[in-house]
Amino acid sequence: MSTLHLIDHPMIQHKLTIMRSKETGSKDFRQLLNEISLLMGYEVTRDLPLEDEEIETPMGHMVAHKVAGRKLAIVPILRAGLGMVDGLLTLVPVARVGHIGLYRNEETHKPVVYYCKLPSDIQDRLVIVTDPMLATGGSSCDAIQMLKERGCSNIRLMCLVAAPEGIALVQKEHPDVDIYTAAVDEYLNKDAYIVPGLGDAGDRIFGTK
Ligand code: PRP
Ligand code: URA
Repeated sequence: MSTLHLIDHPMIQHKLTIMRSKETGSKDFRQLLNEISLLMGYEVTRDLPLEDEEIETPMGHMVAHKVAGRKLAIVPILRAGLGMVDGLLTLVPVARVGHIGLYRNEETHKPVVYYCKLPSDIQDRLVIVTDPMLATGGSSCDAIQMLKERGCSNIRLMCLVAAPEGIALVQKEHPDVDIYTAAVDEYLNKDAYIVPGLGDAGDRIFGTK
């Protein structure tokens, strides 16, 4: 069974509360998502292995540590996952970025794929899939499946708000994929939106409603 990492640092909770408010506009929503993504990135990358490097400081010789050769890819699920990319890139500027386009059919709530472009060596990378909303879990599960079909074996899912239903589905279908979230909310409504949630993340990021 994969591990659920609840990243509920006070600063993250504070910023998420502002994001949730319906009074918060797109500009602030985007900015806060960016900031939270960077902060969550610390936890998502916490166990990256280090290697020794001998360096000379102005004061002398030392054996210091650097992140070992493990390469990273960030794969946002379009559209809303895009809002988490810049924060992670601030932390790991050399990461590659792939894109998976999925939208939910409004009636069935099932994901429909419309785009996939990934780094050519994606199978050799630690992949962080980003999507702020883990609702039914269908979109994340399909995105992870697409990555596995392309040879990826080291995948983490970073979201912002998760519903119990989505967590359960990812853990059932992809028990090897750890989930990182800033909140676990109460339930899904009849339209499969997270309650209390924050509404439609894509629309709030891009101001499309
Ligand atoms: C939202 C969200 C997730 C998905 C979550 O995307 O960003 O990708 O729904 O729902 P699920 O867990 O039930 O699959 P949406 O389909 O609204 O597309 P958008 O980001 O382009 O608005
Ligand atoms: N997608 C969103 O953007 N929000 C939800 O609550 C569920 C799916």
